[in-house]
Amino acid sequence: MTEQYPPPVGCPAHASNGAVPLYGEGLSGDPARLYREMRRTHGPVAPVLLDGDIPAWFVLGYREVHQVTSNNELFARDSRRWHAWKDIPDDWPLMPFVGYQPSVMFAEGAEHRRRSGAISDALLAVDQFELRQICERLADGLADEFAGRGDADLMADYALRLPLLVVAELFGLPPDEVPQLVVDIAGSLDEGPGAIDAHQRVAARMARLVRAKHAQPGPDVPSRLLAHPAGLAEEEVVIDLLVVMAAAQQPTANWIGNTLRLMLTDDRFAVSLSGGRRSVGQALNEVLWQDTPTQNYIGRWAARDTQLGGRRIKAGDLLVMGLAAANTDPQVRPDFTAAGADSNQAHMSFSHGEHACPYPAPELAEVIARAAVEVLLDRLPDVMLAVPEEALVWHPSLWMRGLTALPVEFTPAYTPVPAPGAPTR
Ligand code: HEM
Repeated sequence: MTEQYPPPVGCPAHASNGAVPLYGEGLSGDPARLYREMRRTHGPVAPVLLDGDIPAWFVLGYREVHQVTSNNELFARDSRRWHAWKDIPDDWPLMPFVGYQPSVMFAEGAEHRRRSGAISDALLAVDQFELRQICERLADGLADEFAGRGDADLMADYALRLPLLVVAELFGLPPDEVPQLVVDIAGSLDEGPGAIDAHQRVAARMARLVRAKHAQPGPDVPSRLLAHPAGLAEEEVVIDLLVVMAAAQQPTANWIGNTLRLMLTDDRFAVSLSGGRRSVGQALNEVLWQDTPTQNYIGRWAARDTQLGGRRIKAGDLLVMGLAAANTDPQVRPDFTAAGADSNQAHMSFSHGEHACPYPAPELAEVIARAAVEVLLDRLPDVMLAVPEEALVWHPSLWMRGLTALPVEFTPAYTPVPAPGAPTR
């Protein structure tokens, strides 16, 4: 295997190894092309330079991503293992992905199993049938706001709002606090100067929620985490709830947006015809293969010197998981025109192994995303793009694939005002 690629080059910092800069303008438009070229030039593990020319390895072979994510002891998650910290300024743009926090994300071994197991159990108690009803009600409420207008931006008005509303409900947050939380979470994801303040407000909100649930438990995720036999301290619950909320929000929102885009632009899904409904599952799955929200993920740190895809990896090297690139590895990529291809779910979009998106989060995300798409198509049966497909703009990010806006138009619908107490569906 190793001989078909360039010979091992050692440390990715060596300029002579042709390290590919993974930053700057122009990378996000057609990432699939970038991955193809990197695979051709470098094979399954490529030397790359992150912002500020910080060297790392980019793992883009499906087999190699599987190998890394399956071996937590060798490719570990605690970012304090990194040997490059002396070169990383406090305001490094990728700090949110690498800055160590005592959360489930950076925990390793038995401590990770304790934290992750509690999250899985708390999420497993969510009844998926009830969740579907919650999603329909909240999606209907959002659609009510624009259905009478005849036009909408399905990102800002819909996809980016729904997952957080759902999570707020699963967390038992008082409904009157949700609008401000939505504003603060969006602000905390911005790169502007207000981001830190916004993040602190979200964290303080979560700490208040956990204290309240301690005093008065309810049928919600925070109360179940607090009561879990893992014996989590209040601070651990707060920080892990923040992880769950952030992990659910952006990827699920972009899964919804990317699926709506596919259905609105690809004739095979023919949204404006009545056959659309049957294709929602296919579209959701196809997006995970070819336009997955979490394109690349930072990351893993080598616990000791080793080999991967013909490269010599040094202890403390950073490995970026090229999840989208692994999905398009010619060795595994399904042919979507072939029968049965739409049921193939062996993509890497939820990653793999101990640190993968924890069961049953992918299933919950699918309930949310499917409900979002189906409610929208039910409410706006003749919805169509308001701009040519080529005018849609992807966020300039190699990490999260999502549209800046998804402008649509449709026949304005009469929105009945429900009688007090009447069910909306
Ligand atoms: C209800 C929605 C979701 C919840 C509650 C959720 C929760 C989480 C949590 C708690 C983690 C951290 C796991 C750990 O470090 O042990 C995680 C990781 C992750 N999630 Fe999710 N997630 C959701 C939706 C999604 C979606 C829609 C995607 C992409 C399509 C996604 C992709 C990932 C990936 C790639 C990781 C990183 C795994 C790694 O380090 O290998 N998640 N998620």
